[in-house]
Amino acid sequence: MNRTVVRGGLVITASEETHADVLIEDGRIAALASHGSSAAGAWTADRTIDATGKYVIPGGVDAHTHMELPFGGTFASDTFETGTRAAAWGGTTTIIDFAVQSVGHSVREGLDAWYAKADGKCAVDYGFHMILSDVNEHSLKEMDLLVGEGITSFKLFMAYPGVFYSDDGQILRAMQRSARNGGLIMMHAENGIAIDVLVEQALAEGRTDPRYHGEVRKVLLEAEATHRAIQLARVADAPLYVVHVSAEEAVAEIAAARDKGLNVFGETCPQYLFLSTDNLAEPDFEGAKYVCSTPLRPREHQAALWRGLRTNDLQVVSTDHCPFCFSGQKDLGRGDFSKIPNGLPGVENRMDLLHQAVVDGHISRRRWIEIACASPARMFGLYPKKGTIAPGADADVVIYDPHAEQTLSAATHHMNVDYSAYEGKRVTGQVETVLSRGELVIHERQFTGRAGHGSYTPRSTCQNLN
Ligand code: URP
Ligand code: ZN
Ligand code: ZN
Ligand code: ZN
Repeated sequence: MNRTVVRGGLVITASEETHADVLIEDGRIAALASHGSSAAGAWTADRTIDATGKYVIPGGVDAHTHMELPFGGTFASDTFETGTRAAAWGGTTTIIDFAVQSVGHSVREGLDAWYAKADGKCAVDYGFHMILSDVNEHSLKEMDLLVGEGITSFKLFMAYPGVFYSDDGQILRAMQRSARNGGLIMMHAENGIAIDVLVEQALAEGRTDPRYHGEVRKVLLEAEATHRAIQLARVADAPLYVVHVSAEEAVAEIAAARDKGLNVFGETCPQYLFLSTDNLAEPDFEGAKYVCSTPLRPREHQAALWRGLRTNDLQVVSTDHCPFCFSGQKDLGRGDFSKIPNGLPGVENRMDLLHQAVVDGHISRRRWIEIACASPARMFGLYPKKGTIAPGADADVVIYDPHAEQTLSAATHHMNVDYSAYEGKRVTGQVETVLSRGELVIHERQFTGRAGHGSYTPRSTCQNLN
């Protein structure tokens, strides 16, 4: 038996903060005991980690990543190898990535391709959601099979006509199916049909710069789609999870649904909490670095997102990590913002940015762990294996130094992308050591993991939060 003890830290979970020692046996949490107690003192171990003055937190669960996603004629620049290594550096020990069914192909083909991309490559554990781009009789049946093999959530798009888009009839059918099979529908809620009209008009008028990406993808069209998705979910009697919520008006739709007692949930992302249309307006095409969908919003929207995270109208912060290099990839959209591949890097930055939100007073320490670890694990059927520190849980544990100061930068990050969306931002707090199922993957700020340690993690049906 392999035993590790983490001594002297402040153990923080979504529900508790305790000065406790943590005993790890064969990759799992075996016990917690008060620091200095005779029980903890009696533990013997092969390895002792001193966490005095540090936080001991569950590894982060990032429920929204896109490693190697094909988009706009190119691929997201992080592979499963580089992206999960960067995740580990940032204290995230589980990702849930999106496998993609492409139009004209089966769900099975898409999923098998994603299993193959990730197999043997990952530094930390991973699961999959399934993007449905072609909802038909066959793919609806395939949904049931996927739930049985641990892919228990399905993303649909009201945006990107001709690529990922589903019409309302397809959405309703998929929701009805998920209401029966226990799956959870995740919605990209933007009215893509209307957006494409505005894109065409903007380009025809010579409005081609990155900032117009934000202008055509209007708040109203996010709010409208969010409202419509909620009504369709009500008709189907299915739970709904709205991804990458960025607009105050969309939060209001989710909050109103929850006030009615509906099983409607919302996720936001660090880019919407920390960046804004000011970034999209940066000159010399620099704004392209910040093109993602839903788009960054005027700064005024941020207060509603923080409030939603405090009131639990928003339950999860994921990254939507989907990096494209500025040079050679974002470049594809010079002279036409609609050709800029959509997505931002961030899998490495999430835990730190949310800790900064604790320092700034937006959320409490326990809420930090809830929205970054426990809630995503619970929503997506991984809890309590992931998302907490408790006997029986996987020993995915981060030793976090809450006093370290760092400057986020492409010069020091580990994501395979040539810029940082947070270049030059000073944050307080830094990951020091990371254990994944009891194995050291980051040790005192050195990578000690390996490609292939991370394993596919099937998920149970989603355990909804109210
Ligand atoms: O811009 C984004 N969000 N790119 C990734 C695809 C998606 O819609 O999540
Ligand atoms: Zn095919
Ligand atoms: Zn999306
Ligand atoms: Zn996404």
